[in-house]
Amino acid sequence: MYFSTLTVLAVLAASSSAKQCINATVPVTLSAQQAVFNLAVPQTNLEATDFILNMTQQGRNFTDVVLTGYNTTTGTYNISTQFCMPDNSNSTNPTVQVLTHGIGFDKTYWDLSFNNYNYSYINVATDQYKYCTLSFDRLGIGNSSHGEPLNEIQIFIEIATTAQLTQMLRNGTFPGVNQTFNKVVHVGHSFGSAQTYALASMYPNLTDGIVLTGFSMNGSFVSSFAAGGNFQQANRNQPLRFGNITGIGAQNVLSMYAEPLVSYISPIDLTSLPAPQALPNGYLVTSDIEGNKLQFFKPHYYDPAILELAERTKQPVTEGELLTLASLPMMNSFAGPVLLIAGDVDLPYCGGNCLATGGVAASIPATVRMNFPSVADSNFSAVIQPNTGHGLNLHYNATGGYDVINTFLNSKGLMSS
Ligand SMILES: *[C@@H]1O[C@H](CO)[C@@H](O)[C@H](O)[C@H]1NC(C)=O
Ligand SMILES: *[C@@H]1O[C@H](CO)[C@@H](O)[C@H](O)[C@H]1NC(C)=O
Ligand SMILES: *[C@@H]1O[C@H](CO)[C@@H](O)[C@H](O)[C@H]1NC(C)=O
Ligand SMILES: *[C@@H]1O[C@H](CO)[C@@H](O)[C@H](O)[C@H]1NC(C)=O
Ligand SMILES: *[C@@H]1O[C@H](CO)[C@@H](O)[C@H](O)[C@H]1NC(C)=O
Ligand SMILES: *[C@@H]1O[C@H](CO)[C@@H](O)[C@H](O)[C@H]1NC(C)=O
Ligand SMILES: *[C@@H]1O[C@H](CO)[C@@H](O)[C@H](O)[C@H]1NC(C)=O
Ligand SMILES: *[C@@H]1O[C@H](CO)[C@@H](O)[C@H](O)[C@H]1NC(C)=O
Ligand SMILES: *[C@@H]1O[C@H](CO)[C@@H](O)[C@H](O)[C@H]1NC(C)=O
Ligand SMILES: *[C@@H]1O[C@H](CO)[C@@H](O)[C@H](O)[C@H]1NC(C)=O
Ligand SMILES: *[C@@H]1O[C@H](CO)[C@@H](O)[C@H](O)[C@H]1NC(C)=O
Ligand SMILES: *[C@@H]1O[C@H](CO)[C@@H](O)[C@H](O)[C@H]1NC(C)=O
Repeated sequence: MYFSTLTVLAVLAASSSAKQCINATVPVTLSAQQAVFNLAVPQTNLEATDFILNMTQQGRNFTDVVLTGYNTTTGTYNISTQFCMPDNSNSTNPTVQVLTHGIGFDKTYWDLSFNNYNYSYINVATDQYKYCTLSFDRLGIGNSSHGEPLNEIQIFIEIATTAQLTQMLRNGTFPGVNQTFNKVVHVGHSFGSAQTYALASMYPNLTDGIVLTGFSMNGSFVSSFAAGGNFQQANRNQPLRFGNITGIGAQNVLSMYAEPLVSYISPIDLTSLPAPQALPNGYLVTSDIEGNKLQFFKPHYYDPAILELAERTKQPVTEGELLTLASLPMMNSFAGPVLLIAGDVDLPYCGGNCLATGGVAASIPATVRMNFPSVADSNFSAVIQPNTGHGLNLHYNATGGYDVINTFLNSKGLMSS
C-alpha cells in the first residue's frame, strides 16, 4: 500500500513537471493584398466535386483561369492562441517557436492529447528542449474568426496574421506574455509550411530560422491530395460541428423521424455539445476517415485510434485557400537556417515517395535548396522521416522527427539562453 502510494506520487511528480500554457483570444487588425476570383461558390456536395475537378484538371492553372485581379482585404479578427513555456525555465533570453498548422487540422496538431500527450510536439519543444511555443488556429479555422471562403480566407491574410502575432511576441505586447523575444523561429506543417516559407521571404526580419514539415516546392502532386480527400461541404459533413443544427435540434429531429436512433446514440449527450460554427458553403472537409487516411497516413505506421481522433476533430479548408496555396515566390530572399522534413511517403508534396527523384537529387524536399539562393549550404538541411505519411505528428515515430527539428535549431545557436 505504502509503495503503491509512492508510485502514484512519482507519476504525479513526473507529469507535474509539464509545460505551462496560456490560452488567449488575440484580436488582430490585418490588411493584405489578395486575389479576387470570379467563381460561384458551390452550394452542394456535388458542386464541391465540380470545384475539385476544375482545380485538378491538368494542362491549365485554374487559379489563373478564375483570377480577375487583386484587392486589399482588411479587417479585425480574433485569433485563438496557445502560448506555452517550459515549467522551470531559467532563460533570460528565451526563443519562441511559432507553429502554423496545415489543412485538416487546428492548433492541436502540435499538442495532440492522444495517449496522454505522448505525441505532443509542444511537450517535447518545451519540456525537453526549453523552447517557448506559440500555436494558433489559422484565420478562418477552428476557434479563430471565420470569413467568406473564396475572396477573404486566402493565404496572404493568414501570413499577415502570423507576421502580426510574431511582432507582438518580439515587442512584448502579446497578451498574457510578459516577455520580449529576440529570437523567433517559425515551424509549419504542410499549408502552414507554405505560409512559413512565404513569411520568411516577405518579412525576413521577423524570423531567425524556419522549419518546413510535410512540404516541398513541387506542386505536381497536390491534385492526388485534393482528389483523394473527396471533399464535401463542412456544414453538411459534420453538421453538429460545422453546420447550424444544435445538439438539441438534432435530438428533436431524431426523435421525430428516427426515434430508435435516440437510444442508439444515447451515450452521447447531444444537449451539451458546443455551439456549431455555422460555416458557409465553400468551407470543405474530407468526406470520411478513408479520405483522411489517404491524405495523411502511412499504412501500418500509426495507431488506428489516432486516425479516429483525426477524423473526429478534422478541420476544413476554404476554396480560397486551395486556390492560393501554391502562390509562393520561387526565389526566397530568406538567408537564415532552413530545415525541411517530410515523411517518406508524403502524398501532396512527394506523390507518395520522397526519394523517387529520377536521380536528380537526394530527395524531393532536398530540391528546395535552389529556392533559397541566399542560404549557405551549412544552413540548409532536408531530412526524410522514415515510415511516415504527410501527417508527421500522428505516426508512431513522431518524436523521432521532433528531435531532428529541435536538434537542428539548437545546432544553429537558436536555443533559449
Ligand atoms: C487551452 O486550450 C487547449 C486546446 O487548445 C485545451 O486543451 C486546454 O484545456 C485549454 N486550457 C485552459 C486552461 O483553458
Ligand atoms: C468549373 O469551371 C467552369 C469553367 O471552367 C465554371 O463554369 C464552373 O462554374 C466551375 N465550377 C466550380 C464549382 O468551380
Ligand atoms: C497559377 O496562377 C496563379 C495566379 O496567376 C499564380 O500565382 C501561380 O503561380 C500559378 N501557378 C503555377 C504553377 O504556375
Ligand atoms: C475591393 O474591395 C472593396 C472594399 O471591400 C470593394 O468595394 C470592391 O468592390 C472590391 N473590388 C473587387 C474587384 O472585388
Ligand atoms: C472577438 O471576441 C470578442 C470576445 O468574444 C468579441 O466581443 C468580439 O466581437 C470578437 N471580434 C471579432 C472581430 O470577431
Ligand atoms: C539553466 O540551468 C541549466 C541547468 O539546470 C544550466 O545548464 C544553464 O546554464 C542555466 N542557464 C542559465 C541562462 O542560467
Ligand atoms: C506513445 O505511446 C505508445 C504506447 O503507449 C507507443 O506505442 C507510441 O509509439 C508512443 N508514441 C510516441 C510518438 O511517442
Ligand atoms: C507591437 O506589435 C504590434 C503588432 O505589429 C503592434 O500593433 C504594436 O503597436 C506594437 N507595439 C509596440 C509597443 O511596439
Ligand atoms: C513582468 O515582468 C517584469 C520584469 O521582469 C516584472 O517586474 C513584473 O512583475 C512582471 N509582471 C507580471 C504581471 O508578471
Ligand atoms: C531588416 O534588417 C536589416 C538588416 O539587419 C536592416 O537593415 C533593415 O533596416 C531591417 N528592416 C526593417 C523593416 O526592420
Ligand atoms: C443553415 O445551414 C444550411 C446548410 O447546412 C443553410 O442552407 C441555411 O441557410 C442555414 N440557415 C441559417 C439560418 O444560417
Ligand atoms: C525515427 O525517426 C528518427 C529521426 O528521423 C530516425 O533516425 C529513426 O530511424 C526512426 N526510427 C524508426 C524506427 O523508423
